[in-house]
Amino acid sequence: MNTDTLNVSVVESRPFSDQRPGTSGLRKSVSEFQQAHYLENFVQSIFDSLGGCVGRTLVLGGDGRYYNDRAIQIILKMAAANGFARIKVGRAGILSTPATSCVIRKYRADGGIILSASHNPGGPGGDFGVKFNIDNGGPAPEKITEAIFKRSREIDQYKILQAADIDITQLGESQLGNMVVEVIDPVADYEKLLESLFDFDLISKLVTSGKFRMCFDAMHAVTGPYARAIFEKQLGAPAGTVRSGEVLADFGGGHPDPNLVYARALVDIMYGAEAPDFGAACDGDGDRNMILGRKFFVTPSDSLAVMTANHRLVPAFRGGIAGVARSMPTSRAADRVAEELGCRHFETPTGWKFFGNLLDAGMATLCGEESFGTGADHIREKDGMWAVLFWLNILAARRQPVEEIVRQHWMKYGRNYYSRHDYEDVETDRAHAVVEQLRGKLGGLTGKRFGGFEVGSADDFAYTDPVDGSVSERQGLRISFTDGSRIVLRLSGTGTRGATIRVYLERFEPDAARQNMDTQAALADLIAVSSELAQIRQLTGRDRPTVIT
Ligand code: G1P
Ligand code: ZN
Repeated sequence: MNTDTLNVSVVESRPFSDQRPGTSGLRKSVSEFQQAHYLENFVQSIFDSLGGCVGRTLVLGGDGRYYNDRAIQIILKMAAANGFARIKVGRAGILSTPATSCVIRKYRADGGIILSASHNPGGPGGDFGVKFNIDNGGPAPEKITEAIFKRSREIDQYKILQAADIDITQLGESQLGNMVVEVIDPVADYEKLLESLFDFDLISKLVTSGKFRMCFDAMHAVTGPYARAIFEKQLGAPAGTVRSGEVLADFGGGHPDPNLVYARALVDIMYGAEAPDFGAACDGDGDRNMILGRKFFVTPSDSLAVMTANHRLVPAFRGGIAGVARSMPTSRAADRVAEELGCRHFETPTGWKFFGNLLDAGMATLCGEESFGTGADHIREKDGMWAVLFWLNILAARRQPVEEIVRQHWMKYGRNYYSRHDYEDVETDRAHAVVEQLRGKLGGLTGKRFGGFEVGSADDFAYTDPVDGSVSERQGLRISFTDGSRIVLRLSGTGTRGATIRVYLERFEPDAARQNMDTQAALADLIAVSSELAQIRQLTGRDRPTVIT
């Protein structure tokens, strides 16, 4: 078939003004995405920003949420009309975020589109999202997302092939116009990659020993099929190890965010009588993770530090690591491990895209964010299953309970008490007033005392990428105290309703005798200081956070 005979429609359209990608792609309510031309405009803006689509290969998939199936069909037809040569699409439209990154890299595709709103609820009343990843397998950097946004402001047409829907439920190739649609197994390539990194034999001995029980909660989101294939089939963990493993379009009505609040069912099991030895959960699109021991929660910041300290137990890192990178609000626990190891450590703005250059340049090997994200240089996304396997590898090698491993870690490196307080769905103007108010104060804070804390420095975090020199400003307000404590405040870039204020609190405790406190109690004084400084109650009327993690 040649282009002349293709049945391509050029559809007239008008720009939408709100298509600027946030921390992680364009995320909106399903109903906003269902507006006529809304999805099409954004996808065409991506294609137009690529500098040509002809002859290129794209990877496509999503987390299975409501509207995934419709969006896949639209994007396939648009890709065919725009001249792509090949699309690799996950069977039934399923591909986790880390699996997409893996497939882009393995087959040297030119990029990928991930349909997901990550951990936001799904269903007709929930959220949807579109994220573009570049050829290194990672989220598009800001200069590309800004180009896409700019294009979306001026776009006046998009191209789509007039064709019947494609059956993507069977593996194999078919033709759509001049484009090959290749339906791939969503799990296979990714499973092979993970197998090459970890000691699967050792882990298998642990999970089949009868002396170790684990529980994985897929939260009815995308990791169900991955977890069943890897934990139960490949590693031999007993059937039933994976809970809520069916991918449901509304995630079973749940909120697929693996934290102590939203992964309640798993938390109840892990804190109940007869609790298993190890518990874990992943989010909607499979890039986040939560790690639990018996009656014990590992904060994501601590998880990154423990992984860094134990990296030599994992075959992929036996030869050492180049460095560790964490987002600015993440606790500084990993920094001290890096200092002891003599490897580099980096502090980047929030969002995985800022790790890409460091990973590509071989400057960082392990990366993490306080928001339940950890990963490494095997792909260019954070990776939930990878984190769970990393912990299993540590547990299989050390044969100690999770809690004991973390407590020994604190004894050696000190403990960073850490918590994040979120105020969700705040009126946007009021949230900005909170930021402006605090930003206005920053200049005069150094040297001032609040409660028992003396401000050592205060600034609005700006980051200069050490690889390409690009500068990202206004990445969060930070107030550091002379005793090593910190308060960070920023607005979420992923929310879809109003604004979310995030307050991050951190206090360092080197004394082993004082490392057993309840986190909120240990942070109480600092929380009081943050209220005084941020004035959230006065400016928003909110007297407590909606979510504490
Ligand atoms: C949140 C997290 C951030 C993470 C992002 C995507 O972004 O805080 O660490 O990279 O989700 O998962 P935020 O809503 O804070 O902008
Ligand atoms: Zn996610």
